[in-house]
Amino acid sequence: MLKANQLTMRYFRKTGRANHFFAVKGANLELHPGEVAVLTGRSGSGKTTLLHMLAGLLTPTEGKVWLDDADLYALPDAALSRLRNQKIGVIPQGRSAVDALTVLENVLLPRQLRGEAGDRGAALRWLDALGIADLADARPAELSGGELRRMAIARALAADTEVILADEPTGDLDDENTERALMLLKSAAVKRRKAVLLVTHDREALPYGTRLYRMENGTLNEE
Ligand SMILES: Nc1ncnc2c1ncn2[C@@H]1O[C@H](COP(=O)(O)OP(=O)(O)O)[C@@H](O)[C@H]1O
Ligand SMILES: [Mg+2]
Repeated sequence: MLKANQLTMRYFRKTGRANHFFAVKGANLELHPGEVAVLTGRSGSGKTTLLHMLAGLLTPTEGKVWLDDADLYALPDAALSRLRNQKIGVIPQGRSAVDALTVLENVLLPRQLRGEAGDRGAALRWLDALGIADLADARPAELSGGELRRMAIARALAADTEVILADEPTGDLDDENTERALMLLKSAAVKRRKAVLLVTHDREALPYGTRLYRMENGTLNEE
């Protein structure tokens, strides 16, 4: 289980009389296996900042993140990287492909970084489930934004981590692919007991959630 306690990110930027502002302020959240937590909120409300802190990618200024028994930011860097690789899959908001690798190799990468043999058959099945199996041997530079997004989703699903953190994963997808991607993330939670966080400003994603959170100006509330 992933748990955030009073998670806070304070950035230094002049705002009114203060010289800092809170991108995320005192967020408490739990992600359980088998659940999809949907997080909505306006652009700039702090969703990505929260996701990065949950992912072990951004050290909070205050508060803690626990993954099972591990206090993430109390770990030495090498141990944190190892744990991230093993347990946390991220579908980032921006571009995340390794350009020198093919699409299939990108999908295989997380498990190879853990020292596991790449399962090409499984990776191809994820690409197929997302409708891009025909692009397996293409390079990321040849793909459209939506195809790259689907590759990142396939990569996170193939990584087979206990936590999946998805930052607006359907942002560049059409309706059909949005539904397909959301179904796959939901079934990863329900059938394979993953703990999924789905950040979105898409109302469409709401029915896929088992818990609903909303971020407003850095403050997280469960709805
Ligand atoms: N590295 C940074 N330094 C200063 N401010 C930042 C940084 N990253 C994000 N912010 C600010 O934090 C706020 C929340 O950003 P973000 O988490 O990306 O929001 P969202 O994902 O909800 O659109 C925004 O006002 C943004 O400008
Ligand atoms: Mg964002």
